[in-house]
This record gives sequence, structure tokens and C-alpha cells, in this order.
Amino acid sequence: MSGAARLSALSALRGGVGLLTVATAESVWGIVAAENPAWMTLPLAEQDGCCRLQSLSVIESAWERKTALAVGPGLGQTPEVADLVKVCYSRCPLPLVLDADGLNAFVGHVDQLACALEAPRVLTPHPGELARLLGIEVRELQRDRENVAVKFARQTGAVVLLKGAQTVITDGDRLAVNGTGNSGLARGGAGDVLTGLIGALLAQGMEAFSAAQFAAHFHGLAADIVATEKTAQAMLVTELIDAFPAAWKRIL
Ligand code: APR
Ligand code: MG
Repeated sequence: MSGAARLSALSALRGGVGLLTVATAESVWGIVAAENPAWMTLPLAEQDGCCRLQSLSVIESAWERKTALAVGPGLGQTPEVADLVKVCYSRCPLPLVLDADGLNAFVGHVDQLACALEAPRVLTPHPGELARLLGIEVRELQRDRENVAVKFARQTGAVVLLKGAQTVITDGDRLAVNGTGNSGLARGGAGDVLTGLIGALLAQGMEAFSAAQFAAHFHGLAADIVATEKTAQAMLVTELIDAFPAAWKRIL
């Protein structure tokens, strides 16, 4: 899904990242490359619209020159994608944020989210994704969001950002609940924007819990700025990214 990659990438650029490379399936590579001249692109070998495991060597050689990796938005859900994601997750020595189909790759293998590397891992599930990973009902999870997130963070050793109104951010010890944002964010693509932003903050050296907490706050702030002018009802996800400069001005 080329839109997800483009949204994450635009968000990362507006999040302050210096050099950005977008690795994407070769059939959408041109669309992604044409979106913005400021990023580099890596076409990945694919089958049936999803990346092949053989793409791993291309990704590995790219991450050698990088400071963070964001994995998941728009990847698709084939067994081969799942293997590719799992190898990246367990081997990449950089801070890594995992979202969407990156998280879906671990359904049935949640134990593999416990990463042996020193580099931090940030997991950003929406309630549906986390419920699937844990094999519980969304309703059950939503009744006890903070405890479920803390337990999942302890189980994986990762920073967990559980999405939704009142997003929960925890590393198993620290816990924050975000108050910014509005219902305008409940639309496809808003999560991809958050992933790109967290990736950008990790790339700039921010500690993982702080990056997740700050990103949730900033993402919601941008949404509140857009809603003031355009309403939550009519908000476009691209306008969220367009509001990043105004949000930065309030913070810097
Ligand atoms: N208030 C504040 N923030 C919200 C609200 C709300 N009412 N609703 C959603 N958000 C935020 C979440 O916290 C998260 O940061 O919007 C973002 C949504 O992210 P995802 O759920 O990952 O959405 P995305 O993957 O971009 O789009 C998928 O399709 O499957 C559906 O319900 C799913 O709306 C989601 C979309
Ligand atoms: Mg999502």
C-alpha cells in the first residue's frame, strides 16, 4: 500500500529527520519516489504485491548508514513478509519502531517480540492489533488498557504505545496517558503518520519512551490545530502533516 509509506515518510521529514530512505515493493516504488524529491528509495523484490525475503540483504545494507528504522505501514501480510519483518526486528542494531503489518507479522509468535539486542524497540498497536497479538477480545483489552499495555511492555522489553483516545505509553516502569488529539484521528493513515514521527525522533537520538510519549502528544496537537480550522469531521490525514510546522512552533 503505497499511501501508508508516503504518509510515514512525509511525517518523518516534517519530524526533522535528516536523510530518509523509503524501502518499498518495486511495483509501487515509482509512486513513492515521485511523491517527494527529498527522500531516497529502495525498490524491493516482490511477489503478489508483497516484499520477498530476498529483499533482506538490500535492507541490511541500507540500515548500515542509518540511525533508526520504522517498519510496518502498508507492508501487507504474506508469510514471507512476516519472515522479513521478524529478521529485521531481531537483527537490526538500530532503534526500531514496529507498527501495523509489522506487528501483524508476530501474530502467533508474540514471544519473538522479546528482542535480545540492546537497541530499543517501540511497538505501536491499535487495540485491534494488540488484542490479536495477545489472543484476547478488544472489549476485554479496552476495559483495562493501562494494565494490558504495562504487561505487554514487560513481556517484550519494548516501549508500548497503545493507540486510541487517551493513548497509553509505557516501558513497563514508566506510564503516560496522552490527552491531545481528537476523533478526527480515527481515520486510515493517522497511525502511519505517528510511525514516521516516532522513527524520526528515534533517528535524532531521542530515548525510546520519550520519543513515543512526545510523538503521541505532538501528533494529537497537530490534529487539534487542524480541527480548529477544518473540524475533526473534515480533517484529512495529509493536513495533519501540513500542521506539523504550526505544532513545532508551539513547542520549540
Ligand atoms: N482521539 C485521539 N486520538 C485518536 C482517536 C481519538 N478519538 N482515535 C484515533 N486516534 C489516534 C490513535 O491514537 C492513533 O495515533 O489516531 C491514530 C490511529 O492509528 P491507527 O489505528 O494505526 O490507524 P491507521 O493504521 O492509520 O488506519 C487504520 O483503519 O482499521 C481501521 O480502525 C482502523 O482507523 C483505523 C484505520
Ligand atoms: Mg495503524
